[in-house]
Amino acid sequence: MDELTIIKPDDWHVHLRDEAILERTVPDAARQFSRVMAMPNLTPPICNVAQAERYYQRIKKWVPKECLDFSPLIALYLTEQTTVTNIADILNSVCVHACKLYFVGATTNAGYGVKDLTTLYPVFEAMQTYDIPLLIHGETAEGYVDIFDREAYFIKHYLLNLIKQFPKLRIVLEHISTKVAVQFVQQAPKTIAATITPHHLLYNRNHLLANGIRPHYYCLPILKRKEDQHALIKAATSGNPKFFLGTDSAPHDQAKKETSCGCAGIYNMNVAIELYVTVFEQVNALDKLQGFASKFGAAFYQLPENKTKITLVKKNQQIPERLDYGKGHVVPLMAGQSLHWKIVTLET
Ligand code: NCD
Ligand code: ZN
Repeated sequence: MDELTIIKPDDWHVHLRDEAILERTVPDAARQFSRVMAMPNLTPPICNVAQAERYYQRIKKWVPKECLDFSPLIALYLTEQTTVTNIADILNSVCVHACKLYFVGATTNAGYGVKDLTTLYPVFEAMQTYDIPLLIHGETAEGYVDIFDREAYFIKHYLLNLIKQFPKLRIVLEHISTKVAVQFVQQAPKTIAATITPHHLLYNRNHLLANGIRPHYYCLPILKRKEDQHALIKAATSGNPKFFLGTDSAPHDQAKKETSCGCAGIYNMNVAIELYVTVFEQVNALDKLQGFASKFGAAFYQLPENKTKITLVKKNQQIPERLDYGKGHVVPLMAGQSLHWKIVTLET
């Protein structure tokens, strides 16, 4: 197959950042996706509907004219100060569709996150009542837990109990990175789903650490073993609606990646859908792409499928070494390499 038309996809997990950076991230996202779930880990974080609505307006300013279908959805950042009223306010908001849970210190800008999950029990109760999805960065932040085990530890020591306490709460385990997480989601109740990134499908920890340390492959959750990568590929291409697309595109300035203590996060938004197509083609599963990219997430979020379509063709494209990023640059995933698929048209 050398041409593929699918319903324009949605990205259920992305970091658009703010201010001058939106000039980079929003046009890149709007070309690829119809809806995105924008993460709230800004400084300061987006903790209530009023802040989310102002962020929505800042994002909208950068949407290119040819992508007017693009609509950013926003997740609120849960802190120990989040109130039940903050949750009730979501019912009257057009742009807020979920809340995001980070343990304090678990990842970039998780400093306002939660130390003790029980402080949020009234908030989870309200989310369950109002049927608002909880998006989870599923890693413990406890320093004594090995970084490669933090996802599995979180599932065993926190998530199982959370599901027991709030059986009707819809939960997305974001950017899963392990075979343990795949198996957990497969056997979990219908209320539990997961997003999968292109980089966790394309790479494993050898790409990050063997024959030199490569900071542009560093993200959280950290890339795991080849067996984990294969379990993720199988899940994403299986047609199981519990697994859907979330790029976790998380740009950092080149200087903040190429340093002695580099930031976690990978920028893939310039070619995100082409990266997924590449993986699906490798395992002969192009027929499963539309479900994963354009249908299962919408169904989970109880939103209609997009009306716009995109066409991809088999055509070489060279990924730039770096892209403009505010006053600096960002190095995208696969910088300097070539991809064999390219988006060609946007049909309405
Ligand atoms: C993300 C970021 O930079 O905001 N980093 C990352 O490595 N994925 C935060 C996150 O989603 O963990
Ligand atoms: Zn993220």
